[in-house]
Amino acid sequence: MHRVLLLPGDHIGPEIMAEARKVIDVLVAEFGFSVECETAHLGGCGVDAEGAPLPESTLRLAKASDAMLLGAVGGPEWDGIERELRPERGLLGIRAAMGLFANLRPAILFPELAAASSLRPEVVSDLNILIVRELTGGIYFGSPRGVEQRADGVREGFNTLRYDENEIRRIGEVAFAAAQRRGGQVCSVDKANVLESSELWREVMTDLASNYPDVTLSHMYVDNAAMQLVRAPKQFDVMVTGNLFGDILSDCAAMLTGSIGMLPSASLDEQGRGLYEPVHGSAPDISGQGVANPLATLLSLAMMLRHSLDEAALADHVEQAVRSVLQQGLRTADIAPQGTSAVGTRAMGDAVVEALRARA
Ligand code: NAI
Ligand code: MG
Repeated sequence: MHRVLLLPGDHIGPEIMAEARKVIDVLVAEFGFSVECETAHLGGCGVDAEGAPLPESTLRLAKASDAMLLGAVGGPEWDGIERELRPERGLLGIRAAMGLFANLRPAILFPELAAASSLRPEVVSDLNILIVRELTGGIYFGSPRGVEQRADGVREGFNTLRYDENEIRRIGEVAFAAAQRRGGQVCSVDKANVLESSELWREVMTDLASNYPDVTLSHMYVDNAAMQLVRAPKQFDVMVTGNLFGDILSDCAAMLTGSIGMLPSASLDEQGRGLYEPVHGSAPDISGQGVANPLATLLSLAMMLRHSLDEAALADHVEQAVRSVLQQGLRTADIAPQGTSAVGTRAMGDAVVEALRARA
């Protein structure tokens, strides 16, 4: 029996989570999926209901779960609130409290949506990259850091890029293991021609590769990686990199697919437990209208099945069901070509459920 914690969050969060719930129900009823779901507050809804963006009760349930599925948090109504109560604090808090150091960001472009990309269809059609980004170390967390006035009176800002070999090894292991389940290639991205920390990064990745004879390791400097991502993105299978480079490259890769409503993500701890969520935010501009695209959330659910619950066959079914509704021509507004008609959140969820049933 798997234990899953659902965190709908704010604005479109509950709308897209309702569709995930329907898919989970079908997996239980028709595919023998054994799960116990709890629901808890995270984000602005936690502030309103329990006085904190990450309530104690939510953290307790998180620690007792095998995996978490999050909608999205935040919205303008919490903008003026004090810093500790901001909805994003809930997200940062749960990542830190659960030790979620490995961020998995797939950039997948279904061929049916190739026209949504800013690149030519033949460059991106069938694109399927996985970016593995280190999430709890590197320059975002290194010390010393600050802004100080020097003796000459000039102010100086500084941050420190620091990785120890254990941090590098554990993110590398996640990338190699993922490549074994995919195309068998890891491209490690660094700046070893300039940065000592990248020399160590490269050395540890190279050592690690000997434990994975079925995976091919290559190295690339980050500036070239950015260039290659927009020149010929299909050359990549898994890319692994540090926090800062990964932040930038994963957003770049995401935009190759042209549609924020389609992109899932995972953040994993050392035991493979994880928080799964769409890459997009809570979209207050469209909340309550029933038009949000639920597919990023359903694809996040598929990632959860694959990476935390060891249910790869079920993950395939969900992904194939999503693929099949796109083949049927169903589009929510964010992925519908100009001037064509779109379906709403529920109709899209229902279609995925139907496609899933057809596979049972
Ligand atoms: P956003 O991702 O919420 O929205 C950007 C644009 O994409 C909007 O026009 C929105 O309507 C559209 N969009 C997003 N998701 C969509 C979906 N599923 N279907 C169709 N259209 C979709 O980013 P924005 O507007 O910068 O942030 C809104 C709120 O979300 C803020 O409070 C922000 O802090 C929060 N946020 C939360 C995240 C999370 O929970 N992980 C991540 C990013 C932002
Ligand atoms: Mg970013």
